[in-house]
Amino acid sequence: MPQPMIAAHQVTQSVQFNNKVLTILHDIDLEIFAGEQVAITGRSGSGKSTLLGVLATLDRPTSGELWVCGQAVHTLTEEQRAQIRLANIGFVFQSFQLLPHLSALENVMLPMRLQPNFNYKVAEKKARSWLSRVGLERQIEQTPKVLSGGEQQRVAIARALIAEPKLIFADEPTGNLDGQTAQEIENLLFDLNRELGTTLILVTHDLKLAQQCQRHFHLEDGQLSQDINQLEQV
Ligand SMILES: Nc1ncnc2c1ncn2[C@@H]1O[C@H](COP(=O)(O)OP(=O)(O)OP(=O)(O)O)[C@@H](O)[C@H]1O
Ligand SMILES: [Mg+2]
Repeated sequence: MPQPMIAAHQVTQSVQFNNKVLTILHDIDLEIFAGEQVAITGRSGSGKSTLLGVLATLDRPTSGELWVCGQAVHTLTEEQRAQIRLANIGFVFQSFQLLPHLSALENVMLPMRLQPNFNYKVAEKKARSWLSRVGLERQIEQTPKVLSGGEQQRVAIARALIAEPKLIFADEPTGNLDGQTAQEIENLLFDLNRELGTTLILVTHDLKLAQQCQRHFHLEDGQLSQDINQLEQV
């Protein structure tokens, strides 16, 4: 049996709010293997972004164990978690999180800048190529303020993909796009999955997209359902 890329055991995530403890995720158990495509759906406020943030090592779970690429993330410091992300993970945030004073090109180049063998010319060429793959060759010099919502989303996608990470987490990656552009972005993600074996973990409200993934979990009351795509095949 291969080792999972991600293994969550009894992961719980709580936050303090107005002097009360709000538990968003309750005892989540999930294993994701290399090259899988996994969709997570759920109502607004059900905790999808919270779950993605924990699985992608951005936030440490309140309790439980999280293993990513064989490392016990729940025992690591913030700095050590950042190293795991740099080496393995691309993340498309629901709110994009682009740096406002940087151009689209510079935003996309950012993950390359953090790599140990950074070379400006190589990174610039790659960033241009990824911006072109998401249909933004004409917006390269623009800053996020003057880009449309869908354009910002595509810059965020190019930034997540430029370092060709083993794991891509995308929080509603097509939420701001028209049908045709959404389809192109979906094709891009599935092509990467097929060609490079990239593991995809997608949060989406699009049930058609969730059905296209190998596995589909629904988040409700802080817990994940069984794999809906498997249940539908039976
Ligand atoms: N730091 C926090 N303090 C208080 N409440 C929080 C905090 N973080 C998240 N929440 C609450 O936890 C719940 C889950 O939030 P989350 O952003 O994960 O939902 P979501 O499923 O991604 O929703 P959407 O589909 O609208 O993006 C929400 O009710 C949110 O208000
Ligand atoms: Mg969300």
